[in-house]
Amino acid sequence: MIHKNEQLFYFRKLTILDIPQIKECLQDVINTLTDNEIFLYPSIEFMNQIIEGLGLSVGVFEDQCLIGFCSAIYPHENERNLGYKLDMKRDQLNRVVHIENICVMQKYRMKGLAKRLYNYLFSLFDSKHSIVLATISPKNIPSLSLAFSYRLEIVKFFNIHNVDRYIMYRDISKSKNHIPHQFLRINYNDIDHIQQALQLGYSGISFDDNVSSIFFEKN
Ligand SMILES: CC(C)(COP(=O)(O)OP(=O)(O)OC[C@H]1O[C@@H](n2cnc3c(N)ncnc32)[C@H](O)[C@@H]1OP(=O)(O)O)[C@@H](O)C(=O)NCCC(=O)NCCS
Repeated sequence: MIHKNEQLFYFRKLTILDIPQIKECLQDVINTLTDNEIFLYPSIEFMNQIIEGLGLSVGVFEDQCLIGFCSAIYPHENERNLGYKLDMKRDQLNRVVHIENICVMQKYRMKGLAKRLYNYLFSLFDSKHSIVLATISPKNIPSLSLAFSYRLEIVKFFNIHNVDRYIMYRDISKSKNHIPHQFLRINYNDIDHIQQALQLGYSGISFDDNVSSIFFEKN
């Protein structure tokens, strides 16, 4: 039998009662950001909306304390749907789920908790929503590593209010059945070159070993 004090971490869906803890956790994450551009953190009002039906949020706890969380929303045909930027048709737009605001308190990072939050969140999506989209700053190496490890691919670059973002994409209903035969490796800082590759139809699929460049592939 496992005793309570042996339990390391546990995961569960967040409710409106968790809002005070979400505030505290967010504050810790914001305080430790080295660059404010890499994490456009959610307002508490937006977190309320997500929990009350716009989508869902899951959290990881140590004892009773929330130490990280992650959300998803189903944007359907709302103008905020990132699928519009990828020229998706209506049936695809309705299958989109956006991953939002993944964060883990600094003290608990590099322990695989964000990956587990992703796993748990993905397990809760209903089967109608299989196109997973997210935006990530090109400078956010931890977040890109996390997304790559979940087979999300860089498919588009855009700039909004002077902030750069990649759109990350994965259709979880499809196993990858094509065999890419064109590959590129581009320094992760070389945004011009990366944009050109994306325009030519390449997708960014992983970092190389020392995280200095990104591998791109194309059919
Ligand atoms: C992004 C974030 C959630 C990752 O949390 P985490 O719990 O440390 O991530 P994990 O331990 O699950 O690691 C996931 C993957 O990312 C890699 N990774 C995590 N931090 C990394 C870093 N600093 N440098 C390089 N790779 C890193 C891990 O090695 C792992 O890759 P692998 O599967 O190939 O082994 C965390 O850094 C964070 O909260 N950052 C601030 C908020 C933020 O930027 N959120 C994202 C907004 S888009």
